[in-house]
Amino acid sequence: MKGIIMAGGKGTRLYPSTRAVSKQLLPIYDKPLIYYPLSVLMLAEIRDILVISTPHDLPQYRELLGDGSRIGLHIEYKVQSEPNGLAQAFIIGEDFIGSDSVCFILGDNVFYGRALTSILESAITHLNGAMIFGYPVKDPTSFGVVEIDENRKAISIEEKPKQPKSDLAVPGLYFYNNSVIDIAKSIKPSARGELEITAVNNRYLELGKLDVTLLGRGMAWLDTGTPESMLKAAQFIKAVQDIQGFYISCIEEIAWRRGMITHDRLMELGEELKNTEYGKYILSLND
Ligand code: DAU
Repeated sequence: MKGIIMAGGKGTRLYPSTRAVSKQLLPIYDKPLIYYPLSVLMLAEIRDILVISTPHDLPQYRELLGDGSRIGLHIEYKVQSEPNGLAQAFIIGEDFIGSDSVCFILGDNVFYGRALTSILESAITHLNGAMIFGYPVKDPTSFGVVEIDENRKAISIEEKPKQPKSDLAVPGLYFYNNSVIDIAKSIKPSARGELEITAVNNRYLELGKLDVTLLGRGMAWLDTGTPESMLKAAQFIKAVQDIQGFYISCIEEIAWRRGMITHDRLMELGEELKNTEYGKYILSLND
């Protein structure tokens, strides 16, 4: 399975902070935002990753993450010249995906929870056509919203409905089989002129191939669209890290625990960052 991180967009809701810098490069507490979705792909055992961003921002992602080999990954990069919608990722990434299935994650979505790894494993094992997630929120109007029946089968999925049919928001984490490329090519831009990810999911629903996994209590899904939500996410990360002593989304640690790099390599990476708490944490990880 391949992984795609969508890290483009204009980030206008965070202006002026994102006038010159891509949103997903801004820190959430002690690490760049993109580390969080990247770590989700790593936990899903995905090693081949495509980062898509704007022509202006892509060089900075390359500078930050390189070809990924430092942490046992293979990372490629592609430009999205205009923010024409999330589903364009599968057209831009067609060659990269090849004949594989794909996990698609938005560069501004943060997930954290004990069950995350097993949820990812199960999504991959049971992938039939598409697998999306449903997460209960107080106000779902600014998200994709999925309605399910008593057997937890999707009945409808709508993008930012004014009158939501359920309280289940669809987080920015999706698993698709290879048909997603053709489906993305077949959908038409929405009223706001975007190739919507919700249109892709609706197509899978029509084909009877859309599965929904509910994420409940014990799983944190943090959206980072506004200054306030970024601050809340940072406070959450800091609180968990301070209390437990474990870091959230330390990509070097995940690479080591997953056997992608040796302990010696981990120590080298920690040494490079030793002036920071982040680096000290890496150096404290015992073989
Ligand atoms: O966060 C989950 C939600 O993400 C879902 O519930 C929605 O169904 C989905 O459409 C999406 O909604 P947003 O309104 O949050 O999407 P937004 O336009 O903010 O884009 C999400 C990220 O993707 C953001 O970091 C910018 C980036 N992006 C967006 C577009 C439209 C791109 O890289 N290229 C694009 O063309």
